[in-house]
Amino acid sequence: MKTQEAIESRTSIREFSNKTVKFGEILEAIDAANQAPFAGNINNLKFLIIEMPENKKFIAEHSQQFWINDAQWIVLVCSEFKKLEDLYKDRAKNYAKQQAGAAIENMLLRITDLGLASCWVGAFTDDSIKVHFKIPDNWEIEAIIPIAYPKDKKQKQVRKIDLDKKIFWEKWKVDKKPLRYPYKDPSTHY
Ligand SMILES: Cc1cc2nc3c(=O)[nH]c(=O)nc-3n(C[C@H](O)[C@H](O)[C@H](O)COP(=O)(O)O)c2cc1C
Repeated sequence: MKTQEAIESRTSIREFSNKTVKFGEILEAIDAANQAPFAGNINNLKFLIIEMPENKKFIAEHSQQFWINDAQWIVLVCSEFKKLEDLYKDRAKNYAKQQAGAAIENMLLRITDLGLASCWVGAFTDDSIKVHFKIPDNWEIEAIIPIAYPKDKKQKQVRKIDLDKKIFWEKWKVDKKPLRYPYKDPSTHY
């Protein structure tokens, strides 16, 4: 699958089939996450893989999202920022979150590429899940990623976002492309 196709077909899926997903495919998704960019190349992430029914049930209950239970696999994406703090001081917490987000998106794109289904889950009770899975205090759960085959071949609803409403030019709030850029070479104009 081409990058653009993966980006366009990735969508949040919350209904799963019980067709077996090979463990190797979960590792491939995690491998994609680990290929995200990391500030100073400091990878601050760990991935907790969950397949046991009682543990999946715990997560579904402690996020109040019971559809999660139907996924064969769940991956908890966890981050810490201490390793980043030595180098990046007060930017470290921000970097820790940004690189977790980049890694999660890589993972979702690879999941899509493999024909699998998932949804980024960010609403859950951190404390109880951390205690249950023995996650140390200095680690945060950034996302819960349920993974399974989709129940139906769901097509992504095309989101038509008017780019004009998203882009500023040269200065904040300038929402019209300047008529002329002061470049000498006209080929640099788009
Ligand atoms: C940080 C974050 C947290 C999210 N948390 C949840 C969640 O707890 N439960 C859920 O069903 N979807 C959750 N989503 C998925 C969004 O609802 C979904 O991405 C959005 O509706 C756009 O749909 P799409 O992913 O199909 O493009 C979350 C997404 C992000 C980025």
